[in-house]
Parts: sequence; structure tokens; C-alpha cells
Amino acid sequence: MAATEHEVQRSELRWAVAVSVFVLIVFGLTLFAALALHRNPPSNLERIDPATLHLSGEFTEPNLGTRIEQNGQVTTRIVATQFAFVPPCVVVPADREVTLRLASPDVIHGILVSGTNVNTMVVPGYVSQVHTVFRTTGDLLMPCHEFCGFGHSQMLARVRVVPADQFRTDAEGRASCAAP
Ligand code: CUA
Repeated sequence: MAATEHEVQRSELRWAVAVSVFVLIVFGLTLFAALALHRNPPSNLERIDPATLHLSGEFTEPNLGTRIEQNGQVTTRIVATQFAFVPPCVVVPADREVTLRLASPDVIHGILVSGTNVNTMVVPGYVSQVHTVFRTTGDLLMPCHEFCGFGHSQMLARVRVVPADQFRTDAEGRASCAAP
């Protein structure tokens, strides 16, 4: 027997309530993750001129790699370029907040660090920034995950996570994979 109009309306109302509750739950979880857990998309709007980033400023060669800033913040700067990361290996301390900053002088690249939640695109013209804490020590692979040309599959870097008490820096606060 066909449902009456009244029954159809009640069914639609039930589904509308169910969907509304679900949307509110997802919205609430999103707010909770953003405000309480500080889980935010890895995006900050920071522009950089891709044609000159290697000539002056933050991403010149001596500034690349890991450094402890004046305020104690650990920052790792990497240039993603066809078809390599500069530097190809970075060292970071475990269990300490690390800020990764990446820029590209040519095309769109992307990175992820295996076994972590680090995952971002590197778009020419912008600085990609990710804050993370590495919990496990060892060499983690950081491949390019955005097709960027014929050498894409060879584009791979290494993130060397060392225990915090073995993390050594030179007089300028810089740390590199080559032993100091
Ligand atoms: Cu760089 Cu793919």
C-alpha cells in the first residue's frame, strides 16, 4: 500500500533532523580540532618572488636547513626545485615543535614526510609552512608527491629525526646532516 502524504512528510522530517544533527556534529568537531587541538590546514598566506628567492632573503643557500632562531624556535627551510630538495637531508630534534618552511622557484611541488601528518603543496610564489612535532627518531623519507616533470620520481629528501639531547647546532644555531 502506498504511503500517505502525511507519512512521507514525517519521513522527510526525520531525515532532515538526522542530517542536521550530523552536520552540527561535524561542524562541532571541526571547531574543536581547530581551537582545542590546533589542527589547521597547512596554509598561511605568505608571498615570495619565485624568480629571486635564491638571490636574497630567507631562502638563500646559507639559510637553508635547520636552525634554532633567536626565540628558540626550530625552523627548517627547504627549497623544492626540479628535481631535488635543497638541502637533500635535514636534521630535526624529536619531541620538539619544528616549523617547516618551503618554497619553490619553478613549478608546483608537494611534500609529505612518511609516518607523520606533514603533507603540503609547495606552490611557486608562496611560502608553505607546517608546524609539527616528530615523535619517532630515525631517517624519514620526504618524497615529492606532486607531479612536477620527468625527474619527479627521483625527487626525494630525508628528514633525520634525532633525540633532542643529541641535536647539535653550530655557533650560528644551524644543524646539518653532516656531522658538525
Ligand atoms: Cu617535485 Cu614532483
